[in-house]
Parts: sequence; C-alpha cells; structure tokens
Amino acid sequence: MSSRAALSFWPLFDLRLVTARLVLRAPTDDDFPGLIAAIDSGIHAPEEMPFSAPWTDTAPEARARTSAQFWWSQRAGWSPDGWHLGLAVLRDGQAIGVQDVAAKDFKVLREVTTGSWLTLGAQGQGFGKEMRAAVLQLAFEDLGAEVARSEAFVDNSSSVGVSRALGYRENGFSRAAPRGTPRAQVHFEMTREEWLARRDQLPRAEISGLRACLAMFGLDGTGA
Ligand SMILES: CC(C)(COP(=O)(O)OP(=O)(O)OC[C@H]1O[C@@H](n2cnc3c(N)ncnc32)[C@H](O)[C@@H]1OP(=O)(O)O)[C@@H](O)C(=O)NCCC(=O)NCCS
Repeated sequence: MSSRAALSFWPLFDLRLVTARLVLRAPTDDDFPGLIAAIDSGIHAPEEMPFSAPWTDTAPEARARTSAQFWWSQRAGWSPDGWHLGLAVLRDGQAIGVQDVAAKDFKVLREVTTGSWLTLGAQGQGFGKEMRAAVLQLAFEDLGAEVARSEAFVDNSSSVGVSRALGYRENGFSRAAPRGTPRAQVHFEMTREEWLARRDQLPRAEISGLRACLAMFGLDGTGA
C-alpha cells in the first residue's frame, strides 16, 4: 500500500514543514533506504557518542534493521496520549538527517521534547537550528505547546549551540552512560512566551497538512 493510500487513516504522511533550505516530513518505508544511507555515511566521529542510547555503535546491517524498527515503532506506538514524531530532513530531495519531536500526555502537560541528528557533511551550516526551529514552531504555534525541553552531553557543542542559539534556558543536569562511563548532560527548556518573543529572529517554516492530523495529537479538529 502506498503512503497516499494510507492518508485517510495516517494523515501524518501529508504533514510538511518547509524551511528556506529543508523539507521535514514523516518518512514512508520508501524513505528508509535514504535515511539508512545517511546514517551509514556517518553522524559523529567514532570516538564520540552524542546519544544517550548508543544506537550508532551497532554494526551497519543490524543498525539498518533496528533503525527501521525504531521508525515503525513510532507509528505502531502512536497515541494521542503519547506520540513521537520522527521527521526525515531532506535537502534537495536527499535525506540528511532526522528531527524528532515527542510528547506524553500532551493535551494536559503541553510539553514537548526534541532530538535530532545530521550527517557529518551537513553539520555546521545552520541546518540543525533551522530544523529544530521548525518543530518548535509546530509545537508552540500550531499544537499549543507551553514548554519545550532538550538535553545534550555537556561537551556536545553543536547540540548545545542549537539550544542556546534558539534561546533555551539551562535548567539542570543529569548523567547518562551510553558507553558504560557516566557523562554529564545539560538540560534546557523554553516556554511558549520565550519562543513568541524570539521567533522573529529565527528561521521560519511553512507548515501544511496539519489540520487532518490534529486528532492524532490529541487536539480537536478546530485548532490548538
Ligand atoms: C546537533 C546537530 C543536529 C546540530 O546541527 P548543526 O547543523 O551542526 O548546528 P548549526 O550549524 O545549526 O549550529 C547551531 C548553533 O550552534 C553553534 N555551533 C554549531 N556547532 C558548534 C560547535 N562545534 N561549537 C560551538 N558552537 C557550535 C552554531 O554557531 C550555531 O549558533 P549561532 O546560530 O549562534 O551561530 C548536529 O551537529 C548533529 O547531528 N550532531 C551529531 C548528532 C548529535 O549530536 N545529535 C544531538 C544529540 S543530543
């Protein structure tokens, strides 16, 4: 079945966040090979581990399978009370990364968390900021989020750089040990008011196809 045929019951396939240089959209199975090729091309130096779960350490063949399973699990596990929207990030039609935005009990808590990666070749050109800003716009302005949270290892300058550049505030620390050694993570948050005060200085996105998805986010069809 094509993604077009699934639109009547899975409208997320029609959601688009289009920025100056990028298109963000929920990947169909046909997008998985492009995303897997992007992962295989390298996301970080071998001696680094920017993720709290060390999924990039898995050997490529198994990693292709577990990556697909992870994207399928986002669809299979979707509920208005707990959703994880993984968006393929495309530059000139080619997958260069993923931007995630997720929430639990969103209708009540109005909080989202984000995560992302880009291929090494796509890093350091402002794409990370552009794609995170796109999902913050979706969350704050279209879904009615009140708080956005993010975290990164303290030595992950690019991820910390995106959070600072977008105007998040630091609000604590925790530890994680993806390779068995504890490392400090810094936590960031931003409120809706902070976003609204800052958004005019940040990259903007054209968002389409959302109305049909609102019930999936636990919101009624008349807007957030
Ligand atoms: C994290 C990631 C998505 C950021 O995307 P990016 O495109 O590289 O970052 P950007 O180019 O948008 O940079 C955003 C800001 O951080 C700053 N920055 C980026 N890399 C930096 C670095 N190595 N050191 C210091 N500042 C840095 C930029 O100057 C920019 O700030 P500015 O707008 O004030 O100039 C990307 O680097 C990545 O995929 N890294 C590997 C995976 C990863 O760490 N994922 C996140 C796990 S928490």
